[in-house]
Amino acid sequence: MYSPSSRPSLASDAPIGIFDSGIGGLTVAHAIAQAMPAERMLYFGDTAHMPYGDRSPELVRTYSVRIAEFLAAEGCKAIVMACNSASATAKAAVEACVDHDIPVIDVVAPVVQQLGREGAQRVGVIGTRATIGSGIYGKSLREVQHDRGIPDGHVEEWPTPLLAPLIEEGWQSHELMLPVIQGYLEAAGWCAGDERRIDALVLGCTHYPLAEEAFSRVLGPQVRLIDGPAIVAKAVAHALTVRGRLASADGPSVQHQFMVSDLTENFVQSAQRFFGKEVHLVPGGPWFQH
Ligand code: DGL
Repeated sequence: MYSPSSRPSLASDAPIGIFDSGIGGLTVAHAIAQAMPAERMLYFGDTAHMPYGDRSPELVRTYSVRIAEFLAAEGCKAIVMACNSASATAKAAVEACVDHDIPVIDVVAPVVQQLGREGAQRVGVIGTRATIGSGIYGKSLREVQHDRGIPDGHVEEWPTPLLAPLIEEGWQSHELMLPVIQGYLEAAGWCAGDERRIDALVLGCTHYPLAEEAFSRVLGPQVRLIDGPAIVAKAVAHALTVRGRLASADGPSVQHQFMVSDLTENFVQSAQRFFGKEVHLVPGGPWFQH
């Protein structure tokens, strides 16, 4: 457990710590930067151990705890688990390893709460094997539908493990992306033309927002895509607001820090696609080789 006695004070100008198995979480970082331009982020991508989606829950927990302890030690005022696979398996472990004064925001709960508020009835969820195998979306969405008395609530989950590697390759708009998405969604029975079983689709992997257009083409206009990163950014803003820790808008222009556990050749280029602008890497973080 990270010792509070050695913790730097959680001032509003402290960075928001954010992590993912690699670059997918940069879609969440991008949404946070859009929603709160005055906030500084310290992003850690665990590229040495990705993909988390194919790892055991125990291993994802071990990696997540190590990263969260590092971010807390760096004085982060909040920790964002910008990875569905980690959020699905390691939220409690991460909360337990950092001081309770540091809010931990995962990417599953805010989306589930939002769908509950909207009264979403027939929801489909796609994600990695780790996320779908955990059943977290189905369980928590059914709970929220039940608690809110949403009539005819219905949730279906489907693993789509090939999509994250394809998107990471930059193939989100490639002609081969459509048949792969089509294959998965047809197998799930959610495609345009099928008797429609879902009204909303949760993109339960932080890579997937990059392929939004391909999903829309396959699903047709009747199925709403849920914009996870924007919803999570709102949850982060809320967590900081209630603690009086929002960065001041008249502060100096912010410089984010990005770290990875293994710098691969195409990381910087791919990271730029996910974050929407150039990413400057700094050396450091857990597993950093000097
Ligand atoms: N970004 C991760 C997620 O949201 C998926 C990539 C991985 O498997 O590491 O689950």
